[in-house]
Amino acid sequence: MFCLCQIALPVDGEIPYTKFILYLEELHLRTLLTLLGILLGLMVLAACQSSTANPPPGSFNSAPARPTVPPLPELDPAQVILGETVYAQNCAKCHGENLEGEADWKIQNEDGSFRAPPHTAEGHTWHHSDQQLLEAIELGGARFEEVNVGGTSNMPAFAETLTDEEITAVLAYIKSQWPEDIRASQWQVTVQTANQ
Ligand code: HEC
Repeated sequence: MFCLCQIALPVDGEIPYTKFILYLEELHLRTLLTLLGILLGLMVLAACQSSTANPPPGSFNSAPARPTVPPLPELDPAQVILGETVYAQNCAKCHGENLEGEADWKIQNEDGSFRAPPHTAEGHTWHHSDQQLLEAIELGGARFEEVNVGGTSNMPAFAETLTDEEITAVLAYIKSQWPEDIRASQWQVTVQTANQ
């Protein structure tokens, strides 16, 4: 059986012993180098991982993620033109030729019905999301039948008499009459309610 002690012992003078020491040193060096290599590899790996996990300096990763509102979409001119006709024929008699609403629109009629509000920046149409406004046009006053809102509405339901295209167009026309900041506000409400 091979035994290390045989080499370790200085049998023929100094040479075998020195050889053994050299051998051991070489072995030691190799092990050291291997260990160093592994360590270096691990360090590189750790550095890579932390650089992907941590944001680059200067980014505000700690701030809560804010939902970004996509840019205000352009209105389609053809849709606005169609909407103007739809409005004149179906809505103007109550909401006014220039979207100004009924006189004293904030006061309820004696029978408890609401007066038609303006669709201009002075009214509250722009406080509502697209979804709510489309529903208001489609269902009219009937949408208040089940809920107590403190009054009634004689607004007709347009779901049967107008096409989807005409309903979207009339809303586009109303929007075209708003200043840009009001339109941006209403767009924000629309995006936020859609995300809920
Ligand atoms: C007979 C009168 C009448 C007609 C015609 C009418 N509306 Fe109305 N509308 C009202 C009244 C009254 C209200 C307020 C009560 C309510 O919200 O239903 C109203 C409310 C609305 C609202 C909700 C506004 C808000 O801030 O909540 C929208 C949107 C609307 N109308 C759009 C239209 C459009 C578009 C047309 C035409 C396609 C139209 N209306 C035709 C009477 C009318």
